[in-house]
Amino acid sequence: MPNKKLTEAKSARKDEFYTRYHDIEVEVLSYLDYNPDTFRGKTVLLPCDDPEWSNFTKFFAQNFERLGLKKLISTSYAVNSKNYKIKYMPSLFEQDSTLFDVNKTRIRGKKFILEKDITGDGKINHDDIEWQYLEGDGDFRSNEIKQMRDEADIIVTNPPFSLFREFMGWIFEAKKQFLVLSNVNAITYRDFFPYIMKNEVWLGISSFNTGMYFNVPDDFQYAPTYKFEKEIDGNKVNRVSSICWFTNLEHGRRHQPLSLMTLSDNLKFSVHKEIRGQTNYSFYDNYDAIECPYIDSIPSDFNGIMGVPITFLDKYCPEQFEIVGITKTWFGGASKTYPEQIQVDKNGKKSKVTKLNDGATIELHEVPTDTTYYIVNSKMYKQVYARILIRKKQES
Ligand SMILES: C[S@@+](CC[C@H](N)C(=O)[O-])C[C@H]1O[C@@H](n2cnc3c(N)ncnc32)[C@H](O)[C@@H]1O
Repeated sequence: MPNKKLTEAKSARKDEFYTRYHDIEVEVLSYLDYNPDTFRGKTVLLPCDDPEWSNFTKFFAQNFERLGLKKLISTSYAVNSKNYKIKYMPSLFEQDSTLFDVNKTRIRGKKFILEKDITGDGKINHDDIEWQYLEGDGDFRSNEIKQMRDEADIIVTNPPFSLFREFMGWIFEAKKQFLVLSNVNAITYRDFFPYIMKNEVWLGISSFNTGMYFNVPDDFQYAPTYKFEKEIDGNKVNRVSSICWFTNLEHGRRHQPLSLMTLSDNLKFSVHKEIRGQTNYSFYDNYDAIECPYIDSIPSDFNGIMGVPITFLDKYCPEQFEIVGITKTWFGGASKTYPEQIQVDKNGKKSKVTKLNDGATIELHEVPTDTTYYIVNSKMYKQVYARILIRKKQES
């Protein structure tokens, strides 16, 4: 398959990863530890969510009373509009309903609403869901779904990975509370990171970067490089290694400061060979900051700017540190721009490149044996991974 087609097929496949019940339950219930009323009296919208079988719909419907919800709205995307062409089998929910129309199902989305006790059993739960076809296909960008967004207080879902940026723009434009799953890489996106920096978005409570299994359609094609297929509870699953929740719902874990050593103690006692026994931390050549390659190597008493791994966000306590930037070209925080460089890979192979500007660099005084390096005007540099730039919060 040509490269472009392969990439499109890959991203269409990832758009059909369905979240498992346990992962939703662990995350959502954790917010109640901090504030039992997080969802009380709220209208929750679950867009992009095949409600006939979605675990989001199932979880929120089953926990409607426990969470104290006012209303639950869940919408699906029409079968024919999906990029990944699934073999459509009507769910039991649909088969049991007089509303079901296979032709409409192909071109229209569906809307599931839970608001009141319909069965008269004194409880509001899954049995009280009412559903109907939407006018359109359920695209979150349509006016129909935008109206539901505007009505909602909190938006919860695992949006299609390929439309993550657009999806978040859609939420920000309406200034809603949200809880969404996505790839950890989204942290470094130009149109997303500024919200993290301004403390308008933070990481959720569970599952940061530990990998998560997702249910996949029965006819899901595994990538040719994928070594094994797996099933959990009888469902076909696929693992995504770098996944996390993003939210603006308050929780307690993000206010717990990291316990850290001073700079001099790090140089004496750090468990990391890059730090212990050195005379100082490395300063970047192109950013006014020191390199902290590990979270537990962040010195507690350094007042300047520090470059830390992206994974720092999982430990970020806004009362302890402030985020001042990211070492990405688009951020524009570098103090210099390098001309064309000679890249020397681990095998000594040389090539002309211009990639040294996209990240922080450290000048080297010896030829490294274990890493790619770059030569510019007879000086040698190595590039470090993307770093978040932080500074100790000044006591006011
Ligand atoms: C990653 S899946 C997650 C589904 C569900 N939220 C879950 O976690 O189980 C994303 C869903 O969004 C649907 N989708 C793709 N593009 C969409 C769009 N433009 N508007 C609404 N839904 C879309 C996909 O077909 C898929 O069902």
